[in-house]
Amino acid sequence: MAKGRRFLIAGNWKMNGLKKDGRALAKSVAKSLKKAKGKKQPFDLLVCPPYTLLGSVAKEIKDTGVKLGAQDCHVAEKGAHTGDISPYMLKDVGCQYVIVGHSERRTDHREGDAVVKAKAEAVLEADMIAIVCIGETLVQREAGRAMAVNRRQLKGSLPTGATAKNTVVAYEPVWAIGTGLTASPEQAQEVHAVIRAELVKAVGEDEGNGIRILYGGSMNPKNAKELLGQPDIDGGLIGGAALNADDFAAVAAGCK
Ligand code: PGA
Repeated sequence: MAKGRRFLIAGNWKMNGLKKDGRALAKSVAKSLKKAKGKKQPFDLLVCPPYTLLGSVAKEIKDTGVKLGAQDCHVAEKGAHTGDISPYMLKDVGCQYVIVGHSERRTDHREGDAVVKAKAEAVLEADMIAIVCIGETLVQREAGRAMAVNRRQLKGSLPTGATAKNTVVAYEPVWAIGTGLTASPEQAQEVHAVIRAELVKAVGEDEGNGIRILYGGSMNPKNAKELLGQPDIDGGLIGGAALNADDFAAVAAGCK
């Protein structure tokens, strides 16, 4: 983490939680932030529950400093798109962030870079912050194509008009998501440095150095500190460990 960037610890709850669980988890996350605040914490905490819980979690975290995000959105403002949710609806319910291009969306819903870019631009248009996910598969890594794949996905998915304020990039090696396998701090930093260089090329020195790059993929209380200690790792996108408030807080405690 370099000077001028603030850590972002983001919980991606994925398709988990009923009303009762969501409210309880949000409450505990807010409590942990209150505790950490006494020590002037160097991170922002964000929770990204499923759509059905956004309203109740928004109420639970109101005025606590915990931020609210969604896991996806449609590109349009409104209209005939059965089952979809527009960025403006997310903003209306209290979201400040939207994750776009998660590998599970890219795989399960065949979303390619062009769609991810359009979604990220729709998020910016609605005056929220886009968390743009990229990452290689194991086959691509083993073929020595990890850097090329991440470069290509970043170029294809980065929204026009990206700045340090409106865009976050999340590097999530697909082989590390939900598998218990984690990129080593060196492996992650190597990719983050490539992403950083591409960002500087794309949006200039100031914005490129200001955009936060999160690591995601089996981040947990045990490995967080070392990962977050790398110069270009500015936070985490946490799945499994975000479903337990103590683990989530312990990951955040790794920010120094
Ligand atoms: P994980 O998920 O922490 O469970 O690996 C991370 C993610 O997919 O965002």
